[in-house]
Amino acid sequence: MAVPALIRTAAARDPISRPAMQLRRSIVHSRRRLLKSPAMRRNVRLIVAAAAVIAVGGALTWTWLRGDVSAADPTDAAQVARGRAVYAAHCAICHGANLEGQPNWQRRRPTGELPAPPHDASGHTWHHPDRVLFEITRNGPGAYAPPGYVSAMPAFGGTLSDDEIWAVLAFIKSTWPPAIQARQAEITARSR
Ligand code: HEC
Repeated sequence: MAVPALIRTAAARDPISRPAMQLRRSIVHSRRRLLKSPAMRRNVRLIVAAAAVIAVGGALTWTWLRGDVSAADPTDAAQVARGRAVYAAHCAICHGANLEGQPNWQRRRPTGELPAPPHDASGHTWHHPDRVLFEITRNGPGAYAPPGYVSAMPAFGGTLSDDEIWAVLAFIKSTWPPAIQARQAEITARSR
């Protein structure tokens, strides 16, 4: 450390470099003042906020583009409660108050229509990814069947909002045992 000390003493003694040092000190000082000024603080805060918005927005867009966002969360108590009410009002009449479905649900009726299947773990609702369950509910089973397919189930797109459809799916999922929930979550993840 002998050398810098020497330079410093030399500089202090040097009549030309003293004003230079004062100039430097005043630049450093004014830079500090600028950083502390309310306007600059505001700018810094704005930049940090913008960076955060870009980061979060980017992450959300990314997951959305990959279809990762399932809006049916069986652990969301409020959503499940809403879904329970939607289910009772719109689905229970066919799929059963306890999600048990209609008798002999695997056998087509003479009219060609299937009885309503159960939504509990004994059915095959959990074999489908979230997106498919959503589309079936919104557009009717016909959306996933050959043209001319007759189904007793109406499309709910005109009756229920997307949020209500996700809520009823959250409720249905919440009734499954944890192992079935985990299997269906895997099926949903794999479908992306
Ligand atoms: C009028 C009777 C009826 C009502 C009301 C009804 N469904 Fe259905 N649903 C059916 C039938 C019948 C099927 C069998 C599919 C077919 O017709 O091929 C079905 C199938 C489904 C499937 C596919 C299940 C699977 O295991 O593949 C989903 C999901 C479904 N319904 C959700 C709903 C939801 C959610 C509601 C309430 C918002 C609802 N349904 C209301 C009759 C109904």
